[in-house]
Amino acid sequence: MNLARPLQAFPHDRLGRPLRDLRLSLIDACNFRCGYCMPADRIPDDHGLDAAGRLDFEQIETLVRGFAAIGVHKLRLTGGEPLLRKRLPELVARLARIPGIDDLALTTNGSLLAAHAGALREAGLHRLTVSLDALDPGVFGAMSGGRGEVGAVLDGIAAAEAAGFRAMKINCVVQRGANEDQVLPLLEHFRGSGHVVRFIEYMDVGTCNGWRQDEVVTSAQLRDRIAARWPLHPLQSQYRGEVAERYAFADGAGEVGFVSSVSAPFCGDCHRARVSADGRLYTCLFAGEGHDLRPLLAQGEAALASHVAALWSRRGDRYSEIRGNPQAPRKHIEMYLIGG
Ligand code: GTP
Ligand code: 5AD
Ligand code: SF4
Ligand code: SF4
Repeated sequence: MNLARPLQAFPHDRLGRPLRDLRLSLIDACNFRCGYCMPADRIPDDHGLDAAGRLDFEQIETLVRGFAAIGVHKLRLTGGEPLLRKRLPELVARLARIPGIDDLALTTNGSLLAAHAGALREAGLHRLTVSLDALDPGVFGAMSGGRGEVGAVLDGIAAAEAAGFRAMKINCVVQRGANEDQVLPLLEHFRGSGHVVRFIEYMDVGTCNGWRQDEVVTSAQLRDRIAARWPLHPLQSQYRGEVAERYAFADGAGEVGFVSSVSAPFCGDCHRARVSADGRLYTCLFAGEGHDLRPLLAQGEAALASHVAALWSRRGDRYSEIRGNPQAPRKHIEMYLIGG
């Protein structure tokens, strides 16, 4: 690729979007096999990079410093399942000290959280998002590909509360015929707790989940069902480019969010970059190809920053807005490699 165009200190892409968020996968392995992400019949148990295939802590720190230098202020650690990464609190402590990173969050399936929440809090992690698709043990088990126990995730959430994490986000992917009946019970459980349940439309990410449009339950459908039980009113977004649409319960019991990537795409304000555990940059959740950043990491954060700025300034991704069109990319990176 020709990278000779002039660089901007804070790059904007071809659609005028700045780079503000980095979502960094720490590991491509997961102890669950959710059918919408890593179906067990497609992803073998021994799947995954070995330790040498992953960026080490030194490389990760250089990477984050480089991204911070060109405008990233929000960092989300993802997986696979990031709590499977060894010595995670040590890494979190290093990343929490990087100037410019004022929001450091982690998305987890929660199954190992009870053992790690305290150390992550002490290390300086600001925010936690926990994926939770059902409260019913049978439905939860099925959603996790027969690997997860809902009790362990609820224990993890309780441990995180005890460690001082507040206003956690609880993400639920809704799939028609699978866990639709869990929507109201999840809200019943978390309303009034200070945590925010967000319902996510089932997306056509990756290549192996066999996505079908008729399995998507749209946010509008869910919102109507929820509002029939607990009246809702819309809230203003908190910042430009917020992924979830927010609604408040009229009775004051908190709020609920909807992520509507299929029915109401939000590419116009997308300022998110993703990096896989092996150091590849993806400029869209639905990108086919990544850019290998490892050679640049070896040259230090300044070289990395200017290379990423040049790549970002060439970005034109807006997959969710052109889904179904002939020009939409057909090859997609797997979700578990870039953490959503
Ligand atoms: P906050 O930082 O708390 O606002 O989190 P977030 O909503 O940005 O991130 P989270 O990881 O909780 O994402 C919620 C869901 O939205 C996940 O299923 C993501 O895969 C999805 N999502 C996040 N960013 C994008 C995006 O840029 N495009 C699409 N299509 N989906 C996204
Ligand atoms: N559609 C929507 N969300 C998904 N996630 C994983 N796969 C999909 C999909 N096909 C979500 C998980 C988690 C986040 C990391 O990505 O539920 O909350
Ligand atoms: Fe694992 Fe999360 Fe993918 Fe489920 S959605 S298989 S918990 S990475
Ligand atoms: Fe951003 Fe791609 Fe998602 Fe659109 S589809 S919001 S460009 S990650």
